[in-house]
Amino acid sequence: MTHRLINTLVPYLSSWHVLLGGVIIVYLLSSWVTKKILVRRFGAEPCSNTIDDGSFGLRSCRDLIVAKNKGTLMDLVQNRFYESKHPQNPTCTFMVMGNQVIATKDPENIKAVLATQFNDFALGDRHAQFKPLLGDGIFTLDGEGWKHSRTMLRPQFSREQIAHVEALEPHIQILAQHVRKNKGQEFDIQELFYRFTVDSATEYLFGQSVQSLCDSSIGMDQEAVEFDGKKDFAEAFNTAQAYLATRSIFQKLYFLVNNTEFRECTKAVHRFADHYVQLALEATPEEMEKHSGYVFLYELSKQTRDPIVLRDQLLNILVAGRDTTAGLLSFTFMELARNQNIWDKLKAEIYSMFGHGENSDIGSITFESLKKCEYLKAILNESLRMYPSVPQNFRVAQKNTTLPRGGGKDGMSPILVRKGQSLFYAVYATHRSQEIYGPDAEIYRPERWFEPSTKKLGWAFLPFNGGPRICLGQQFALTEASYVITRLVQLFPNIGSGNVEYPPKMITELTMSVQGGVSISLS
Ligand code: HEM
Ligand SMILES: *[C@@H]1O[C@H](CO)[C@@H](O)[C@H](O)[C@H]1NC(C)=O
Ligand SMILES: *[C@@H]1O[C@H](CO)[C@@H](O)[C@H](O)[C@H]1NC(C)=O
Ligand SMILES: *[C@@H]1O[C@H](CO)[C@@H](O)[C@H](O)[C@H]1NC(C)=O
Repeated sequence: MTHRLINTLVPYLSSWHVLLGGVIIVYLLSSWVTKKILVRRFGAEPCSNTIDDGSFGLRSCRDLIVAKNKGTLMDLVQNRFYESKHPQNPTCTFMVMGNQVIATKDPENIKAVLATQFNDFALGDRHAQFKPLLGDGIFTLDGEGWKHSRTMLRPQFSREQIAHVEALEPHIQILAQHVRKNKGQEFDIQELFYRFTVDSATEYLFGQSVQSLCDSSIGMDQEAVEFDGKKDFAEAFNTAQAYLATRSIFQKLYFLVNNTEFRECTKAVHRFADHYVQLALEATPEEMEKHSGYVFLYELSKQTRDPIVLRDQLLNILVAGRDTTAGLLSFTFMELARNQNIWDKLKAEIYSMFGHGENSDIGSITFESLKKCEYLKAILNESLRMYPSVPQNFRVAQKNTTLPRGGGKDGMSPILVRKGQSLFYAVYATHRSQEIYGPDAEIYRPERWFEPSTKKLGWAFLPFNGGPRICLGQQFALTEASYVITRLVQLFPNIGSGNVEYPPKMITELTMSVQGGVSISLS
């Protein structure tokens, strides 16, 4: 039988095939041997939780793309950990396009990557992938460049700088007009949150809002447009960012994603940023004074006068802070709309703290008083647990190293990570682990944050990352989200849910959002 097969095949096998086969065998053998040597040298055990799809990861890659388009990518990632012989091991390895990837949801390993072994890992190709839009900034740089950026930007996030919630109120008023326009009927609030966050972010970053919420549907056209770049910005920024997400999916082949549209959008974004950077650099002392402490650009221009540095850093912060906050608000309202009891409890807390309707005391809504709203904070935690804006992330090993867990039969020994190897960490899966959060891990229940079990979560709750690269805007984001939620609850006592599929399908680009939007009613 075998003989017959070979006889049939031989005529088709050219010497090229034989050579290719030989090369593959030598490659596999040598990588197997070096792995054995390394495992011995580093005292690491092989990961017990390997998933082999028998196609060098081609099938795996196809599955990922199909799931991403269906809005179920995070389910697939979460389930992947259970697909092997040792599903209780929260770390696994699998092949993607011929490369072995390590994926983990184990808080111990995540802590090692982000904190205790920070210097062993880096961002990989993020800088090259994002460079056309973001240049050199805190979100894209590694090493000294990153350290320098972080030192330069940290003062902008001090308490005094981020406490100006009153600056949000004009945007809330416009948002409220869009809500009222629907007269109690269902509408997509997610789309409005994305416009809201780009409007407020451009204002605090550049000193000018792009006013994407101002449109003819509420009888407001944009203020006389000062220059073209402003009108195009929001749209161009969204498109350019979508290209960045595609570039990062292409991994090493990112440079293939570089078409005219991407370049035009990048240009439009830069035109806008450059305009305001120039204004700041030419500002008179009085103008400087007026914007000081309120506008990031003016504060930052006291530290550097380099227009490219200013533009790059501001765009880096915009990318890091805009969609993440819009996502948090969207998922929160999706859950509030389908959980009347949670909405009622939240309403009671906010009304007792800040009044409502005619008697709203807007002036008393401050950074400090929002921090005292315990139920609101529990709601934000619960949203960030089930729907972390950045559901998965990765780092690349800078040298041969190990991670503390995942190896050996019981998964308790260290595993090897080779230089250049990618390490995925999926906080989405950590946040939904029943081992950590109990049997109701898949249920939205803010009350869990008042129970003792959540007091000692440590690295098992990580919506803002941890270690030296922890989100710089955490307090900023929580304050903004709290203010928006508080004001909407004050203005609209009644919420209703549209026919939204649950659990929701999710768009997973750099951050997460609800596929098809969040249809609710408010009145
Ligand atoms: C709900 C809202 C937010 C979430 C869930 C969030 C989450 C995160 C996460 C997970 C990272 C780490 C990314 C990585 O290292 O690969 C990060 C980094 C960062 N975030 Fe946020 N973020 C939010 C809002 C904001 C806001 C509003 C700002 C600024 C105004 C901001 C500024 C930054 C910056 C500058 C970094 C880079 C820090 C560094 O690499 O040193 N974030 N954020
Ligand atoms: C994209 O294409 C343009 C023009 O073809 C080229 O100048 C540029 O270097 C490319 N950018 C990247 C990042 O590949
Ligand atoms: C939300 O989570 C953080 C981080 O674990 C925790 O410190 C805080 O107490 C939690 N807030 C509430 C209201 O439970
Ligand atoms: C890391 O391991 C590879 C084999 O996978 C080896 O070729 C290389 O020399 C090692 N590098 C260091 C710095 O030990």
